[in-house]
Amino acid sequence: MAKRIQFARTGDSEVLELVDTPAAEPGPGEVRVANEAVGLNFIDIYFRTGLYPAPSLPSGLGTEGAGVVDAVGEGVDHLQVGDRVAYAQGPLGAYAELHTLPADKVVALPEGISCETAAGAMLKGLTVQYLLRQTYPLQGGETILFHAAAGGVGSIACQWAKALGVKLIGTVSSVEKAELAKRNGAWATIDYTKEDVVERVRELTGGEMVDVVYDSVGKDTWETSLDCLKPRGLMVSFGNASGPVEGVNIGILNQKGALYVTRPSLNGYADSPERLQDMADELFDMIESGKVKIDVAQRFALAEAGKAQDALASRKTTGSTVLLP
Ligand SMILES: NC(=O)c1ccc[n+]([C@@H]2O[C@H](COP(=O)([O-])OP(=O)(O)OC[C@H]3O[C@@H](n4cnc5c(N)ncnc54)[C@H](OP(=O)(O)O)[C@@H]3O)[C@@H](O)[C@H]2O)c1
Repeated sequence: MAKRIQFARTGDSEVLELVDTPAAEPGPGEVRVANEAVGLNFIDIYFRTGLYPAPSLPSGLGTEGAGVVDAVGEGVDHLQVGDRVAYAQGPLGAYAELHTLPADKVVALPEGISCETAAGAMLKGLTVQYLLRQTYPLQGGETILFHAAAGGVGSIACQWAKALGVKLIGTVSSVEKAELAKRNGAWATIDYTKEDVVERVRELTGGEMVDVVYDSVGKDTWETSLDCLKPRGLMVSFGNASGPVEGVNIGILNQKGALYVTRPSLNGYADSPERLQDMADELFDMIESGKVKIDVAQRFALAEAGKAQDALASRKTTGSTVLLP
């Protein structure tokens, strides 16, 4: 038996319960990982509330973790029992002591990266890899706007953008978060709860506006984000922290300057074992070289997953958060 967090109905964090379940044996092509640390992500809240439907209920939760391979199914060549590994995709159920998932979603961890760092880095860091290096392949010299710059994804983005020679303007909701984003390499910050974001972007860019906006806040920032772009700029809408963007009239892209828009996800980029490995190699290089430091700023016991999600949803966290089984 092993402990896991599950939910039988969608709702607030009280629907999450810690239960004992039989440890699933890995089938062909699968491995079972004994998690040492589990990553907490905003997407977990979307599944819990029902914004994203879980495939069935009751359901496990979470897709990110790191630990040691504890059992290997038939036909798995690249991993063996005892390997230190990390993952950010696959079936819901990472909030657990043991998680069984397809081996091709799992990568071996370099020695220099701890499980806790990996659990704080995989989903958010692979996301930053595709956002900055694939969705809009930044060359250096661009100015970009990145919302929620002191959060998990945002903290990694500030450091990675700086390493690329990109001027990142980060939005945040407090003085403390602005200081954190600056320490992480943001070129400038804007408090989007108090300041006029479009005017501040105009000032900071000498009227030019930005090449790309990375927007994970969603509903509250959609239109402002479009107004911060240069003509023919790219709007990357990649999350819904304030609620989903709905009812868009596509003509708005023309009115605001022949803009481009994309709505990407990690699964849309790390969609083969080779691509996942390439992206993970680049992320691990950034961490091992010290260019990106993973700030695990909050730790909760697995049993406190609901409390951890409430902290994330109420904007009380910064950097990454992990659950410890
Ligand atoms: N598409 C993908 O591939 C992908 C992958 C990973 C993450 N994401 C998205 O990226 C975002 C960041 O994820 P994360 O796990 O690293 O979370 P996070 O950034 O640590 O937390 C979310 C942050 O969003 C900001 N925010 C703005 N309005 C909010 C509201 N109404 N409610 C709550 N927060 C609000 C808060 O920062 P301030 O207090 O500074 O406003 C908050 O700290 C999420 O939207 C997530 O869904 C997308």
